Amino acid sequence: MKDLRGKNALLTGASRGLGPYIARALAKKGVNLALTARTADALQVTAKEVSALGVKAVAIPVDVTDQVGRQRLLEGATAANGAIDILINNAGIEWVCEYTKLSPELIEQMIQTNLVAPLILSRLALPEMIARRIGHVVMMSSLGGKKGSPYSATYAATKAGLIEWTSGVREELRGTGVSASVICPGFVSDAGMFAEYGKHAPRLAGESPPDKVADAVVHAIESDVAEITVNPGPKRLLSIANAISPGTVTWLLRRFGVYEFYRQQAEDNQT
Ligand SMILES: NC(=O)c1ccc[n+]([C@@H]2O[C@H](COP(=O)([O-])OP(=O)(O)OC[C@H]3O[C@@H](n4cnc5c(N)ncnc54)[C@H](OP(=O)(O)O)[C@@H]3O)[C@@H](O)[C@H]2O)c1
Repeated sequence: MKDLRGKNALLTGASRGLGPYIARALAKKGVNLALTARTADALQVTAKEVSALGVKAVAIPVDVTDQVGRQRLLEGATAANGAIDILINNAGIEWVCEYTKLSPELIEQMIQTNLVAPLILSRLALPEMIARRIGHVVMMSSLGGKKGSPYSATYAATKAGLIEWTSGVREELRGTGVSASVICPGFVSDAGMFAEYGKHAPRLAGESPPDKVADAVVHAIESDVAEITVNPGPKRLLSIANAISPGTVTWLLRRFGVYEFYRQQAEDNQT
């Protein structure tokens, strides 16, 4: 989608973390926004900020794990701004914890939020996009979806699911005027779930600023890029190496403290 000006986007996870950065980057390109998350007042803050950039912005508070809420979201976004051209499935949760101590409810909550909700929202948005022969779906995955980390295995499973969904659906959509991309950030500094830990990532893993993730979203839509990894360090190369020798990459990540980082975070979450 070369020209984003005047297009309508629906962005999930817009109340905090990376969402407001993505909202601002799209607004600067002239994209009208329907913004969603559960926290209504924080959503209003994002909406006010982006509407000051000269685009339409509507806040529609919804829990994306709720099917009735998802339907209401699509209808509300379309009623407010017009047909949805861009869907960005950014909302996500991660709970770092020893797997056998993770409650079945939290496992289900992670799968519902990170995987089921993006797939269903896409299912709801795509028919209209295909009928209009214009549209783009962006999935916010993670480098964690390329190489599962200990204490974050459920999160990794959901994020790997988004990568493979995008690969399959993107090809299925070829020639329809509609496409799909997946973004795989590593650790993000300054805002979002990792920044909230208040720690630095191990050097091998590296950190990226949230603007880089937002820029990647815009670039993926404008240039129809299948998959973008956002990571400054050698870890971005590790996904290539992992395809060749997963055991070696596991050893490297263990050796350079990445897995110890997760173990410590799991310990912190228990106290
Ligand atoms: N930050 C990183 O280092 C990093 C790295 C790689 C990938 N990612 C991915 O980037 C995306 C954004 O992460 P973030 O760092 O911005 O996380 P965050 O700061 O924790 O924000 C998560 C967003 O998702 C929304 N959300 C969570 N559960 C929801 C639900 N059931 N219904 C509706 N909205 C819900 C939250 O809003 P409410 O709580 O108001 O509902 C919030 O807006 C996620 O998919 C994450 O996996 C992040």
